[in-house]
Amino acid sequence: MSGAGLQDFYCREAQRLGYVARSAFKLLQMQKQFKLIGAGDSVLDLGCAPGAWLQVACQSLGPLEKGGAVVGVDLKKVNVPSHHCDSRVKTVCADVMNLRMVQARAFSPQEMHQERRCPQLKG
Ligand SMILES: C[S@@+](CC[C@H](N)C(=O)[O-])C[C@H]1O[C@@H](n2cnc3c(N)ncnc32)[C@H](O)[C@@H]1O
Repeated sequence: MSGAGLQDFYCREAQRLGYVARSAFKLLQMQKQFKLIGAGDSVLDLGCAPGAWLQVACQSLGPLEKGGAVVGVDLKKVNVPSHHCDSRVKTVCADVMNLRMVQARAFSPQEMHQERRCPQLKG
């Protein structure tokens, strides 16, 4: 099969399975091989658009009662995908290269509350 054929296959599979991008399969493969994310873990996805890794990360946390959190940061505004994500997933619109310590702390699971936040980049 050609490279283009493979790409089409993974795009179709992503759509069929409710992932927002075929990049989901990269993290799924890493999870399978290295078990990077466990039940109840806290995950920070720097550069999270369009959100496929948020989906796989959330799935990897296990059931809601196990806890855990996934925070995605991107220059673009990213809506939390409706499939494979639950209330443990939040997104933040920010430049990770210009975050101040106080802003980074605000992304911790303890500090993240209610809806998505778009922190000011200055101050
Ligand atoms: C390859 S995509 C990430 C793919 C994503 N993890 C997924 O689930 O498919 C890289 C992302 O990094 C973001 N990005 C690049 N530089 C950034 C920065 N300084 N701060 C925040 N996001 C950044 C881009 O906007 C882009 O959406």
